[in-house]
Amino acid sequence: MYHSRRPLLHFSPKRHWINDPNGMFFLNGTYHLYFQYHPYDTVWGPMHWGHATSIDLINWIEHPIALSPDDKGYIFSGCVVVDQDNTSGFGSLNQIPIIAIFTYHDAIAEARGDTHYQSQALAYSLDGGFTYTKYESNPILENPRLKDFRDPKVIWDDARHNWLMVLSTYGETLFYTSENLKDWNYQSSFGKDLGAHDGVWECPDIFPIQVENTSETKWVLLQSLNPGGPNGGSGTQYFIGDFDGKQFLLDATCQAQLSQYGALWLDFGRDNYASVSWSNISKHDGRRIILGWMSNWDYANQTPSDGWRGKMTIPRVLTLGLHDYEYSIRALPSEEVIRNMIKAYTRSNVIVSDKFQMTIDRSENLNVSILIIDIDHITLGDYKVSLSNSKNEHLHFGLNTIDAYYYIDRQKSGLTSFSNVFANTMSKAILKKKLGSLQLSVLIDHGSVEIFFNNGETVMTEIVFNTQPFDTVSISNASKKDILIKQLELRTIKNKISI
Ligand code: FRU
Repeated sequence: MYHSRRPLLHFSPKRHWINDPNGMFFLNGTYHLYFQYHPYDTVWGPMHWGHATSIDLINWIEHPIALSPDDKGYIFSGCVVVDQDNTSGFGSLNQIPIIAIFTYHDAIAEARGDTHYQSQALAYSLDGGFTYTKYESNPILENPRLKDFRDPKVIWDDARHNWLMVLSTYGETLFYTSENLKDWNYQSSFGKDLGAHDGVWECPDIFPIQVENTSETKWVLLQSLNPGGPNGGSGTQYFIGDFDGKQFLLDATCQAQLSQYGALWLDFGRDNYASVSWSNISKHDGRRIILGWMSNWDYANQTPSDGWRGKMTIPRVLTLGLHDYEYSIRALPSEEVIRNMIKAYTRSNVIVSDKFQMTIDRSENLNVSILIIDIDHITLGDYKVSLSNSKNEHLHFGLNTIDAYYYIDRQKSGLTSFSNVFANTMSKAILKKKLGSLQLSVLIDHGSVEIFFNNGETVMTEIVFNTQPFDTVSISNASKKDILIKQLELRTIKNKISI
């Protein structure tokens, strides 16, 4: 039996099954996270909303289930907003209501062969998000005869002074507005024939964001889909544009990028799905913090487990940059994660003609760590970093400048045979421009790697099931020219013995 090692920096449930993150909001110093939860088994089933809180985005406390299925259906994905002005009327000005908006999935109607069994519903909390009362007049948004009609994400539209909801249908995002969170008016749809369409669109998010180093604001639309991700199965794409209160208008530069690349991806690894952002982050903080489910519907129900299954990605901060007339999202781990790590090992200025290797005595240091690698003199070749152990299990990742791609390869990384699509091929991300140097920041946490290439310009997240800890890091240079490792740094979590 596989003895799973629980991640230390990532949220995982004490027991049973989880998938999408739901309803994240921040209030009074506490980050709330709900999640799709099946409390009776380690496979997907009747969905509840589990609940956890954290004050630092790393250490999570699990609380009792927040929402359970009822005769209207399972509780599918959705969001939570803090209704500061009590627009909904469920609270009062001294008792701010917390409002959850989610999808009811009527499994009985589905089994009966109905095609429109999903609707949107509301529940309110008057104790800060721990217990909820379902609204008696649910649903708040009936199904307009669409088979897929789910995963509402609501934000306050500051410019228009109303609430805005995005939700997904088969291959489109739908937009609705409301004054009171209970009555919703359809405004528009977006996405037909744009971006990736090889699966069902699910779990959208929308938000305005300031373009780095400018005073310009753009709107970002995240749109997950399954299957049809960049390396098979589940994936999350994004669009950049403007929002006029009714419609999302794709930016011309984004349109050009879509014509060139097909879609823009938040993450090119196989295990980051349904990412959405925290609501009610203070203006003073101003960060756009997101988090996704670290799995893929291609094999999520089959991964090795012992009593619990599923975990979330590290919380990431998104920024939007504009370079060479192209907008692009950059994602990096939130600084709370970095603050929890201390330097354990550094090397600088090492010239490598073919291979550099370092073995770590106390292997637990590599189990939960950040590896930072800065390489100069990149020319034409394959530049590969490998994590390995004495059982000959390897996880490779790196950059191939000949065929212009970043990659992560878990084909020989440990247990893989539980699904024939888990490790049948390596995952690749397009390298959009020529590089003379490579910077990698790799977050490793008991069975997952999150690779942030070049300051988060390209990200790849994958889970692994190595049966013995990795204890060796090697860097191979398969080009004809020496490379310079300017810096190699290993950081481990505080309170752990350094090497
Ligand atoms: C995405 C998803 C959502 C749905 C939920 C059900 O992973 O399929 O569309 O609300 O999971 O658990």
